[in-house]
Order: sequence, then C-alpha cells, then structure tokens
Amino acid sequence: MKIAFFEVSKTRQDFLREFFNGEDVSFFEEKLNESNVDLVKDVDVVSVFVDSDLNKNVIEKIPNLKFIATQSTGFNHIDCEYAFSKGIKVSNVPAYGSHTVAEFAFGLILNLSRNIYSANAYLRETLDYNYFPWMEGFNLEGKTIGVIGTGKIGKNVVKIAKGFEMNVLAYDLYPDIDFAKENNFEYKDFDEVLSKSDIITLHAPYTEENHHLIKKENILKMKKGVYLINTARGELVETEALVWGLEEKIIAGAGLDVLEGVKQLKDDKNMTILNHKLMKMPNVIVSPHMAFFTREAVLSIMQTTVDNIKGFLSDNLQNLVK
Ligand code: NAI
Repeated sequence: MKIAFFEVSKTRQDFLREFFNGEDVSFFEEKLNESNVDLVKDVDVVSVFVDSDLNKNVIEKIPNLKFIATQSTGFNHIDCEYAFSKGIKVSNVPAYGSHTVAEFAFGLILNLSRNIYSANAYLRETLDYNYFPWMEGFNLEGKTIGVIGTGKIGKNVVKIAKGFEMNVLAYDLYPDIDFAKENNFEYKDFDEVLSKSDIITLHAPYTEENHHLIKKENILKMKKGVYLINTARGELVETEALVWGLEEKIIAGAGLDVLEGVKQLKDDKNMTILNHKLMKMPNVIVSPHMAFFTREAVLSIMQTTVDNIKGFLSDNLQNLVK
C-alpha cells in the first residue's frame, strides 16, 4: 500500500515513520490540493490536516485512493459524500483536544479580562513599568459564562468555569441533563444564554445549520458589554456583524482562534478588509487556529491517525466518518 501524509512537520514525520516500517510511505509538509495532487496520484491512502482541500477534483485525480485519514476532528475539508460514492472510507480523530481547546478558551478569556497581552506589548514597546487605567480588568468569579455547545470541549469549559466560581448557562441541541446536575449548571434556550451571559464561548461544530450562528440579530439580543470567544469554527460568526457589534460596543471584546475564510487568509497575507479591521481592534485577540496545538494533543492526534491507518490496513476499521 502506498501511503502519503500531508501537513506533517519533520518532527512528526520521524514519529510516524517508525510505525510504518515496510510500507511505502511519503511525507509532505505542504497541504494537499489541486495544485499538487499529481505528487500522489498513485497512492492508496492519504492523511491530511485541515488546510488540505480534498474536493471532488482532488479525489478524482487519485484513482487508487481507498482511505483518507484526517488528522483532525472536523472533516469539512473533505468531500465525504463524493468519497463515499467512490467506496473510499474516511476516518477522523474524534477526540484529542477536549482539555487542550477548553484551556485555550480560558487563555483568551483571561487575556481579555485582564489585558495581559496588551499590557505586555505596551510595556515592551514603551519600557514604562507602570499600570494605567486601561489595564484595569474584571474578575471572572461571579460572572456568567454562556457555553454554546456542551460536547467534549464545552464540558471541560464548564468544569474550568466552575473552578473560577463563575455562573454557567449552556445551550446545546442535545442537553446532557445528568452532566448539568453533576456540575450544578442550567441549560437555557439560545436567546436566554445570549441575553444573560457576560462571556459567550462557542463550542459547536460548523454545519450548514450553524452557519453564522452569531449574526446581527443575535448580537442585538446580547447583554451590552459581553465578550465573545470563538475557538470552534470561524464560519459560526458573521464577521461583518461582529465588527458591527464591537463598534456599537454591544460586544466589549472578542477572543478568536478561528476566523471566517481561514483558508484564504492563510494564503492571502493582506487578509480581507474586515478581518484586518478585527486584527487592529485593541479589544480583539486573534490567534491562528492553534487552540489544539499542544505537545499532548499533537501526540494524541498522531497516535490515533496511526491507529486509524493501521486499522484500515488490517481490516479493522475504526473512527470512520459516517
Ligand atoms: P462535540 O461533537 O463533542 O460537541 C459539539 C456539541 O455542539 C454537541 O453537543 C452538539 O450537540 C452541539 N451543537 C451542535 N450544534 C449546536 C448549536 N447550533 N447550538 C448549540 N449546540 C450545538 O465536539 P467538540 O469535540 O466539543 O468540538 C467542538 C468544536 O470545536 C469542533 O466541532 C471543532 O469545530 C472545534 N475545534 C477547534 C479546535 C481548535 O484548534 N480551535 C480543535 C478541536 C475542535
């Protein structure tokens, strides 16, 4: 079997190589898309991360392809419907960063609530070792956090929030009532979570139904001065509406690990005007989709991907996308 890994750094390549002795394996640091698919036109298995684009045209150009192992939870970068129609199986990594991403969400929250990043940048620039009124923050203790999506990541956010003695409100299409009882918080409807939260944090997947879950009409329902955290997917938030909400001061600040159109942004260093505007706002922190990126999570991703491919090779399929 010919196996090709994309979007893997040299260190990860060394780790992966050890598991595939005897197989014909190739590694690429770049992402897989229409521009370079010829590199792998004769492989049986490809493994990619989220910046690759396995659309119909790419899949078509790999006629022997039997298995796609994405090194991620999300699989919206793969045309699964088309893959399935060709008998190609797709696997993902269902869980790897549920603590990792939840911790990062709090990194963004604390940076916004205590101005840590801005104060550090100011100090470095001015060498002025004084604090100023704009650096005054607010306590998380006693504040209300609205958790949208209480799956694996959202649940850890709830637990961390409880550690800060915050009030938790949550909204999920499928509430986990037992978890709510165990952790002493309540599920409310979407509008109530929006209107009562001091901080809203998104942990729902991107689906067609969830496109622009946060749009102008929903921002209008939010408490004035709310903070919005998005470590889920950029397309959950309508950028234009977010900029509007920030300019109108309905939203006091935002912590964004993901932006709309992130793939284009990676290739277009000038960025689109609106996202550029977000980046320039002092009350907005943007990070380059790195909430998952810890030593522990990466190791777990690699190990599960190896297990998924090994499972395919030994007819013992696991973690299949359905
Ligand atoms: P999960 O599948 O365990 O939980 C998602 C939850 O969201 C489910 O309980 C589901 O019922 C709920 N949900 C779906 N649509 C909803 C809606 N409209 N309103 C409220 N709840 C809704 O997923 P997990 O592992 O917690 O991950 C959540 C998302 O985090 C992923 O889909 C992915 O987009 C993102 N993620 C981001 C990473 C990063 O590095 N920034 C890394 C890993 C995941």
